[in-house]
Amino acid sequence: MASIVISGGKPLSGDVWISGAKNAVLPILAACLLADEPVTLGNVPHLHDVTTTMELLGQMGAELVVDEHMRIRVDPRPTSRFFAPYELVKTMRAAIVVLGPLVAKYGEAEVSLPGGCAIGSRPVDQHIKGLRTLGAEISVENGYIKARAKRLKGARVTMDMATVTGTENIMMAAVLAKGTTVIENAAEEPEVCDLADCLNRMGAQISGIGTTRLVVDGVERLHGTEYDVLPDRIETGTFLVAGAITGGRVRAKHTRPEVLKSVLSKLEDAGAHVSTDTDTIELDMRGKRPRAVDVSTAPYPAFPTDMQAQFTALNCVAEGTGVITENVFENRFMHVQELHRLGADIKLEGNTAIVRGVPKMSGAQLMATDLRASASLVLAGLVADGETVVDRIYHIDRGYENIEEKLGGLGAQIRRLPT
Ligand code: EPU
Repeated sequence: MASIVISGGKPLSGDVWISGAKNAVLPILAACLLADEPVTLGNVPHLHDVTTTMELLGQMGAELVVDEHMRIRVDPRPTSRFFAPYELVKTMRAAIVVLGPLVAKYGEAEVSLPGGCAIGSRPVDQHIKGLRTLGAEISVENGYIKARAKRLKGARVTMDMATVTGTENIMMAAVLAKGTTVIENAAEEPEVCDLADCLNRMGAQISGIGTTRLVVDGVERLHGTEYDVLPDRIETGTFLVAGAITGGRVRAKHTRPEVLKSVLSKLEDAGAHVSTDTDTIELDMRGKRPRAVDVSTAPYPAFPTDMQAQFTALNCVAEGTGVITENVFENRFMHVQELHRLGADIKLEGNTAIVRGVPKMSGAQLMATDLRASASLVLAGLVADGETVVDRIYHIDRGYENIEEKLGGLGAQIRRLPT
């Protein structure tokens, strides 16, 4: 299995181009199944999860063509298999987002239950409950969710908790339902909004976008469109932390500052000078060591769980003690044991990590366990003395496009070792 080798200790400096958002492009690809005509997507990141989703849609019969600019044209018209196998869903939970489109447009779906994963149990009960409320008949047999419906009917769906892919599945199902659906306690994440904007471009009638109450007036059909996926706020945040942890200066270009407010405010608390432009964020530590910050994760617009591991790494070398509280997933501290191997001082108490900053960490061999945990290990490696080797790097390829090239462009000494 490939690994990444980092020689740490160099402040990063320079510009980095931010890719399209993984968690927006995956549901948007699934949404293409709802259309009667081809949809062309731009700003698609070159990620393993994107390839997996394309493979899934291809297995269903959809025709996908990628051009040299990574624009993907999806023609959903030949879709004839409404099946998402376990082999694929177990590698990428986000595949669950085909459930809503399949049952709404084709009247049937068989999608594997995702099962547990490294960061928690992650049930999909809200997806099932919401689709049943819209009139789908659903059974769970042999590890598969089997759904059937003639035409879904608009209804009031109240989510028990703000769930990102749950909201996306219900919203995608509701766009072709008969009548109006109101989704209460909807997730407000920018990726949910991006999906809603894309659906509206395809002819859907969704309002309340960016609030906890989405109103979807069902339409008879969706047409084709061209749509550029929003930039990735978590990739942006990860590169900004790379600047902060190394005492450097990083400018993230082609991003969306307005969706990173909670992250930017924590970076300022850590001592960073942050300035923003329409699509650019510049972070400058002016050579200083970061100050420890307290972080508590919650749904958007609060601090994102997908940035928790990166801030844990930041606190490891900061001045003072920072308390990290994880409120979204019950087991998202797999990076902590690996950070210990670099010499970090972290005490875990339930869903809280108390991180006492140390002046220096030293390189070691580490094991990546999930996507964001892997990113935090790479960040820690950038500042640890000597060489850090992060094994099982395939986790990072699921969600970061060319991470070693982008960090290398900022002056990091980083290389990939093939298997
Ligand atoms: N939950 C339930 N029942 C459900 C759905 C969710 O109990 O039916 C719980 C979850 O167990 C969790 C909470 O609700 O405790 C929120 O989970 P959510 O459903 O919002 O997560 P998700 O949709 O599975 C997406 C992102 C994750 C990100 C979370 C939270 C995608 C493809 N994935 O997951 O991204 O952490 O929202 O913001 O959009 C990542 O990119 O590394 C990643 C894990």
